[in-house]
Amino acid sequence: MWRLVIARAFPAFILSFISLATVVQAQTPFERGRYLVEGVVACGNCHTQQGPAGPVEGMALAGGLDVSGPWGKVISPNITPDPETGIGTWSADEIKRAIRDGLRPDGSLIGPPMPFHFYRSIADEDLDAIVTYLQSVPAIRNETPAPEFAMPLPASYGPPVVSVAKVSRDDLVAYGEYLAGPLGHCMECHSSLDANGMPDPENGLGGGGIPFEGPWGISYAANLTPTGLSGYSDTEIKTIIRTGVRPDGSHLLPPMGVYYYNSVSEEDMNAIVAYLRSLPPK
Ligand code: HEC
Ligand code: HEC
Repeated sequence: MWRLVIARAFPAFILSFISLATVVQAQTPFERGRYLVEGVVACGNCHTQQGPAGPVEGMALAGGLDVSGPWGKVISPNITPDPETGIGTWSADEIKRAIRDGLRPDGSLIGPPMPFHFYRSIADEDLDAIVTYLQSVPAIRNETPAPEFAMPLPASYGPPVVSVAKVSRDDLVAYGEYLAGPLGHCMECHSSLDANGMPDPENGLGGGGIPFEGPWGISYAANLTPTGLSGYSDTEIKTIIRTGVRPDGSHLLPPMGVYYYNSVSEEDMNAIVAYLRSLPPK
């Protein structure tokens, strides 16, 4: 059974007032899936078009966002249940295989930048919840163009994932690692690049520096290791992630998922911060 500190319906501005009054409530798989997808997992940060004011209304998860990069010219696909332009004809097991193994029902491989390196470690229970929620969102008709990859795709992302055990919340740092890795893929964007220009969580974990170009100009993923965050208190880090605004008033640029992290519970935020504070300084 999952426990939640704060129902996501509470507006952000009152989060800080109620965070001490721990409201523990059980979540159904649907609620857990909605909490994850609309929060820390943020599938929409790639699968929903964005305007100057954030995700385009009425187009949630319908694809069409330009997520091009060194890997090629890529427009995200529609993952709503529309049977023709989305994934409405895929079974729950087929959607799970797409998320963890990167395989479509026809056996073809899904390309970057979908973060399979991390999604392979999403726990079974959370994957079930994510898919339950995905299958419940409104079907939206939106045709998206096929990607043009600049490099050959690998043969696979590894052997098929059979089962992933749930990560216990009792160990704050370990649970934070699960949130910032498999679920939130924070570390996909925030790890330094290797010699081939690909994110390198192994050697560059949390080191930052990846450049992202878009209509906003260019942004560089921040160093999230203790060196990078030394100037901020824990509360400040949580506020930056939730609101996208630093203590000096500056706003975080895309593709930092600022439109999604507002609803992350206090308990989960504490785990993320504990994990970031535990990283080897870079
Ligand atoms: C960093 C960006 C990114 C994130 C985050 C992301 N995706 Fe994707 N996803 C993509 C791209 C790009 C493709 C298409 C790649 C291709 O065409 O080969 C894709 C493809 C898919 C497909 C296959 C669709 C099809 O018609 O072939 C599914 C299903 C999917 N994503 C689900 C999800 C879910 C569920 C999440 C959240 C748990 C998610 N994605 C998070 C970028 C992302
Ligand atoms: C799709 C890429 C991407 C993902 C995913 C992402 N970030 Fe970021 N993040 C960025 C970029 C780019 C910046 C820098 C924005 C700027 O400088 O305006 C940033 C900035 C930040 C900052 C500000 C640091 C500072 O020194 O001001 C924090 C904290 C942060 N991210 C934490 C997180 C956490 C925690 C997660 C996961 C829940 C996450 N990020 C997920 C790209 C990403």
